[in-house]
Amino acid sequence: MKFAAAVLCVMVGTTTLPSPSSAQDAAAGERLFRSRCAACHSVQSGQNRVGPHLAGIVGRQAGAVEGARYSPALRNLGTSWDSEALDRFLANPRAAVQGTTMNVGVPNAGDRADIVAYLRTLQALQN
Ligand code: HEC
Repeated sequence: MKFAAAVLCVMVGTTTLPSPSSAQDAAAGERLFRSRCAACHSVQSGQNRVGPHLAGIVGRQAGAVEGARYSPALRNLGTSWDSEALDRFLANPRAAVQGTTMNVGVPNAGDRADIVAYLRTLQALQN
């Protein structure tokens, strides 16, 4: 009986874990972005700060913004950013891309999902 109760607790615990995809909220992501990312990243094409601009980042080639200061690690990564790659990078940038100079991570999975939902709304402007 005790054993069954313990199993039930484990199962209930598992099903109540927050699911990153259902917690996506671009508006919350924009607020998080302003406080945690905007000091180093503009969302306007052509405006690089300490980090590259992030207009059109979803689907963009990694390390590819003209005039941005990239580490060799990111410049030579050779992949493009999709939601999953961004989630992995933001969870722990230096673990995802060894040698990257970006060291600001977002440990909370819900916050990451919100930020990625916001990043998906950023379109690259023609210029
Ligand atoms: C202290 C400055 C700083 C902060 C804060 C910062 N970044 Fe960065 N970010 C950088 C730098 C510098 C790079 C380039 C890293 C490299 O070349 O290794 C970068 C690279 C990136 C890239 C890859 C861009 C590309 O063109 O491949 C993404 C995506 C990114 N940052 C997202 C974020 C997000 C989202 C946040 C907020 C949670 C954030 N960054 C916070 C400095 C920062």
